[in-house]
Amino acid sequence: MCGIFAYINYLVPRDRKFILDCLIKGLQRLEYRGYDSAGIAFDGGNESPDVIKKPETKIVKKKGKVRALEEELRCEKDMKLDIEYDIHCGIAHTRWATHGAPCAINSHPQRSDVNNEFVVVHNGIVTNYRDIKKVLESKDYVFESETDTEVIAKLCKYVYDHRENEDMSFRELVEVVIAQLEGAFALCFKSIHYPSQCVGTRRGSPLLIGVKTKGNLSSNFVPILYRDNRGREFQDDVAYNREGTDSAFKRSFSTTDFEVSGDIKAAEYFFASDASAIIEHTNRVIYLEDDDVAAVMDGCLSIHRMKKEEGESMSREVQTLKMEIQQIMKGNYQYFMQKEIFEQPESVINTMRGRVNFKDKEVILGGLQDHLSEIHRCRRLLFIACGTSYHSAIATRQLLEELTELPVVVELASDFLDRRTPIFRDDICFFISQSGETADTLNALRYCKKRGALTVGITNTVGSSISRETTCGVHINAGPEIGVASTKAYTSQFISLVMFGLVMNQDRISTRSRRNEIIEALENLPNLIKEVLEMDEDIKKLAEELYEQKSILLMGRGFNYATCLEGALKIKELTYLHSEGILAGELKHGPLALVDKAMPVIMIIMKDSMYTKCQNALHEVTARGCAPILICQKGDKESQSKASRVIELPGTVDCLQGILCVIPLQLLAFHTAVLRGYDVDCPRNLAKSVTVE
Ligand code: AGP
Ligand code: GLU
Repeated sequence: MCGIFAYINYLVPRDRKFILDCLIKGLQRLEYRGYDSAGIAFDGGNESPDVIKKPETKIVKKKGKVRALEEELRCEKDMKLDIEYDIHCGIAHTRWATHGAPCAINSHPQRSDVNNEFVVVHNGIVTNYRDIKKVLESKDYVFESETDTEVIAKLCKYVYDHRENEDMSFRELVEVVIAQLEGAFALCFKSIHYPSQCVGTRRGSPLLIGVKTKGNLSSNFVPILYRDNRGREFQDDVAYNREGTDSAFKRSFSTTDFEVSGDIKAAEYFFASDASAIIEHTNRVIYLEDDDVAAVMDGCLSIHRMKKEEGESMSREVQTLKMEIQQIMKGNYQYFMQKEIFEQPESVINTMRGRVNFKDKEVILGGLQDHLSEIHRCRRLLFIACGTSYHSAIATRQLLEELTELPVVVELASDFLDRRTPIFRDDICFFISQSGETADTLNALRYCKKRGALTVGITNTVGSSISRETTCGVHINAGPEIGVASTKAYTSQFISLVMFGLVMNQDRISTRSRRNEIIEALENLPNLIKEVLEMDEDIKKLAEELYEQKSILLMGRGFNYATCLEGALKIKELTYLHSEGILAGELKHGPLALVDKAMPVIMIIMKDSMYTKCQNALHEVTARGCAPILICQKGDKESQSKASRVIELPGTVDCLQGILCVIPLQLLAFHTAVLRGYDVDCPRNLAKSVTVE
């Protein structure tokens, strides 16, 4: 999600123009990650830094592209650009809204108060922000944005104003603040109370630091020194060996410092969400780990651990990057779609973050909370969407019927409109859309709204038309999806709908064990997704066998009917091959005529209540001389004996199995398209956001 960039120069004189250009350039390098607004903070005022008594922080923010922010800066009247700084810290951000629509006020940096005493840029989500906000509001803090991030800036000021130790360092202050935060974050801070210093930290979201020094920064290694609480410094191994033998040391090493110091004459540091923003300045980077708090002060970088885990490495290596920018933007992947497929273990966690309490087996969807009683009273639930988003509703329909005990209707938005489907005031209409801008879905929303139904959005894009125009909703938080073919949005939509079912079922005692079984499976899902992704090489081999075919049929039923539809859609949109997802129960009613020895067939057979019926379909197909490619559960020898090739998947609860089954099909479509020489991220004739009917 989105991007952080910060630039600190120490005894490397830079004028304001250079600094602003550097920050803007940094943001431009992060643009590919997807964002909806941008902003920066830097030292303001036109007096020479040498004579300034009280520094000030200037913030400039803008909805839309980095280019618009750059334009805004250019329009700033009365801002001297040639003013020179020996030491300076500037922070910058591209935001992908999760809390509050994209607009200047919600953009980052967020600030503590009108004097910008503390400013912060944030990637991620603070899940307990409401509680913190309530406390701060009771202490007369006035919030100006709708973001979760603003509590962080305000908390900084609160901690600063109430500190007992006058000498509290910026890093110590940030540690107190982040100890209060739950959720995922990468953060960079700037403050007028700590001029030219920068503190960065992460938990769950990426952050790395580029290091460029003149003078003697020793070798390629940080730790250069550890420092204990009494200010004593040690080399790595000495400090490590002493731990546990001396109780005084033991105490001091409950926290651990690393420092980039040495005989530094001048230095520049770059904090960024990924290396693409750093590589043009330096190829020497340190990747921060969760709970690292990194502070730049007087040209030195220190990294402090909030806690040291048993057996944890005591070093942070300064790594030398050898990659090209293009390569870095896509990580180790060649295509955005490929990257997005492999992001799914994390994106599904982000969808569940702050919503599923695995310990207490509880699910809360904040966006629906106020409307739940109305939803419970409804006549029926309608799910309206297009393409992949429609498939996510088909995939979860059975479970939603089971958990809500309500009639569930799933509609293709275009057909729904063509039919002018009757809608009643006591209908609840869901609109599922990754982009939140799909014209058919949006028109269906307006149609239902006019007829008085309660409208609910399930979108990935905060501030999109669908998220604005629905009464309430759930943001799937999968992060920006750039590849035209939807992958991680599908699995996150799927999970959002499952969570909705669980919320609706929460108070029912008779189904508690079913609910618990699903919540436990959700907890383990990211690991199982990783396991499936490890089969990439095998799937690639399968693609090598199939890529010259003309047609591929996919068959399944029950929870995996949607998987077949979605797999077929991925294959056709990426490879331009004919592909069809067929409900196995319909085989005898027509599609069986297509099956012969030459027809490539993929069958999905899982060990759920459809197992025997799927076996029947398998017999029907093999009796026509076809040996299908089988996607089945590990160890299902009975099905495997009749297959030409087998993709064995780990098992999970029946209603989530579709998430694991769709991944090999995403990979198959991807590899087949590459082998056929097609543009994976931008298939012909298609657009990411279909804003016309
Ligand atoms: C999926 O791979 C497609 N590109 C397409 O079917 C897409 O899901 C559909 O256009 C709906 O888009 P939305 O989720 O942004 O509304
Ligand atoms: N949750 C924050 C917001 O909505 C940060 C989003 C981001 O990662 O850009 O403002």
